[in-house]
Amino acid sequence: MTAPVLRANGVALAYGGSAGRPVFAEVCVEVHAGEVVSVIGPSGAGKSSLLRVLAGLQPATSGLVEMNGRPLRGVDPGIAVAFQDPCLLPWLSVEQNAAFGLDFRRQVARSRPKRRALVGGALEAVGLAHARHLYPPQLSGGMAQRVALARCMARQPKVLLLDEPFGALDEVTRADMQALLRDIVARHRPATLLITHDLDEALLLSDRIVLLGGQAGEGATIAHTWRLDRTMARDADLDAVGRMRVDIVRRLRQISGRHRPNASPSLQFDTDEEFHVPGTDVAA
Ligand SMILES: Nc1ncnc2c1ncn2[C@@H]1O[C@H](COP(=O)(O)OP(=O)(O)O)[C@@H](O)[C@H]1O
Ligand SMILES: [Mg+2]
Repeated sequence: MTAPVLRANGVALAYGGSAGRPVFAEVCVEVHAGEVVSVIGPSGAGKSSLLRVLAGLQPATSGLVEMNGRPLRGVDPGIAVAFQDPCLLPWLSVEQNAAFGLDFRRQVARSRPKRRALVGGALEAVGLAHARHLYPPQLSGGMAQRVALARCMARQPKVLLLDEPFGALDEVTRADMQALLRDIVARHRPATLLITHDLDEALLLSDRIVLLGGQAGEGATIAHTWRLDRTMARDADLDAVGRMRVDIVRRLRQISGRHRPNASPSLQFDTDEEFHVPGTDVAA
């Protein structure tokens, strides 16, 4: 087994320092090149905060984030991040938006022709080469999100961090974007961490799904991990995937019940009852 590209080892975060209320604690995650790890969990569980820590945008209160075996200290040119909002600048063209930031100080120094080639390749990869002279107001939501993905890929990232990137898209566009992401990860092999509310998206794209949640006030942690077997053609084993989905929903409901003290009793379930999918289920 190769070493992970991205590793969080016992990472904790409390806004306001160690005296503050913990958002999450003791989080351990590893993502290898070409892998997709999805993070699911109730709203407010700390998923976006975790992504910011893994991106080097927010220092952890304790624990260690490593990239290629080295401690991550702040933002790193090998890490690209995209959010639900594609964050495009309306006065820049598609091409300029995809190139935005490539020449920033913390980025790898590249000549102008090299940058142009990278942006051209990235727009090609997301199917937008023909639209490079358009401006954001002329783009559909799906196209705008493709530009955001191209901006990530132009950096040739070792790590791709995505925070509900397709959450605002309609179902058909979202399916297209999921196929595109799968293709990009297979071809360029970034270590990819995807935060999503869409369980089917997680089941379709992930090698592993981790559930972030925990007792309110104590900080969330990784409550469970599901492993999807890449060799099992996902479409061919709908049964196993369906059973895993049922298990995910049950655990998510359990966690959400903990998170929201006033949650409806129908969201609670018997915690003694375990649901096991042979060969696909690993303890957290
Ligand atoms: N910059 C911040 N300062 C203080 N508290 C924050 C900040 N960002 C998020 N929080 C709090 O941290 C918790 C987790 O938020 P977040 O990471 O956005 O969760 P999720 O993405 O899972 O919905 C929430 O209680 C939220 O209010
Ligand atoms: Mg969030």
